[in-house]
Amino acid sequence: MDAATVMERCGVLGGVSEESGILVRPYGSSSMREVNGIVSGWMRDAGMSVRTDAIGNLIGRYEGTGNGTFVLGSHLDTVRDAGKYDGPLGVLAALACIERLRDRGERLPFAVEVVAFADEEGLRFGTTYLGSSHYAGALEKRLLELQDRDGVTLAEAVRAFGGDPESLSGTRSAPEDIVGYCEVHIEQGPVLEERNFPVGFVSAITGLSRLRASFSGRAGHAGTVPMEGRKDALCAAAEFVLEAEAAAKSEPGSVATVGEMSVRPGARNVIPGQVEISVDVRHGDDAIRERLRDHLESKAAKISTSRGCEHRWEADQESVAVSTDPELCALLARAIEDASMEALRLPSGAGHDAAQMAEVCPVAMLFVRCKEGISHNPGESVEEEDVAVTIDVMGRFLGRVAEGRGR
Ligand code: HGY
Ligand code: MN
Ligand code: MN
Repeated sequence: MDAATVMERCGVLGGVSEESGILVRPYGSSSMREVNGIVSGWMRDAGMSVRTDAIGNLIGRYEGTGNGTFVLGSHLDTVRDAGKYDGPLGVLAALACIERLRDRGERLPFAVEVVAFADEEGLRFGTTYLGSSHYAGALEKRLLELQDRDGVTLAEAVRAFGGDPESLSGTRSAPEDIVGYCEVHIEQGPVLEERNFPVGFVSAITGLSRLRASFSGRAGHAGTVPMEGRKDALCAAAEFVLEAEAAAKSEPGSVATVGEMSVRPGARNVIPGQVEISVDVRHGDDAIRERLRDHLESKAAKISTSRGCEHRWEADQESVAVSTDPELCALLARAIEDASMEALRLPSGAGHDAAQMAEVCPVAMLFVRCKEGISHNPGESVEEEDVAVTIDVMGRFLGRVAEGRGR
């Protein structure tokens, strides 16, 4: 499969969405079911056996001549109003490598599994890596009670998606003989474009805190309640949002984002009584991230008190920073150099399934240049020639892994 086909296929998957006009493909949705159907057909055409695990990850397997399984992959779910490369590019670039092995009638000294993870973004249930955490055997049972906006639990969603929630925790769908994992992903940042590199390899994946805060004041008549003495929950939340921005700006390398906000009762002539927000805090150093997170928690309390409001602060998910494996990275760097390029090493400010896979095997990541670093935005785009470089480097990388395993 050439780069043009990968680009075309990203376009096909980019057209499968829960809503018309924007790309949104949450866990367990009919659009997820549809893309799983399309990709499983492409996996079979590539000579792979295909299975779906208990949470809905789609797994293609290309047998090898010896023991061990090397895993490639990424996710097929998306954020809201997403671009079409975040996730699918990694699955389809991996599939292109398998098609090239099949076209050459070649088998590696290990099997290769390509996994299309069912939920990495956490759009529906608020926590990331649901797919890769089950694949890696690290899904916490408590998460099955998580509810989406309609009150549907993760367990119910798994069952509706054709999975088996009872068999999820404590088991893993990954084979016991994993030798490593490598994920292709758009960089979602500006470095490769600024440095004029088509690809680079990842040194570490940031740690992240996914939190929720609520501010409760007193709803009231917008026309009759004097400004003094109001308990305006939205003003408290707004003060907090700006505090989060200022605190992250003052801590180099950190980011803090409030991406979701719900305002109740939500009428133009009513003072907001209740506001719920999401808070996303990240840094490559866990101690700094935790310090910033705790600072924001205490700020939320101080702001609430000063405005006569109550507040709640809850941690939905904490993920520690993960370093990629030095040996796998060395092979990936060699593969980049084999393709006559300098191997650039760079950190990831985004979370990836590779962070979860690091629980069960050595991991590496290959970043692909994307236009102006735009992502989580329909403006996400990559160049076909960079995808061609990616497929070439990944093929060379698998060859180097095979050499290391005595091909
Ligand atoms: O949030 C992230 O970094 C990833 O896109 N899930
Ligand atoms: Mn992603
Ligand atoms: Mn993403």
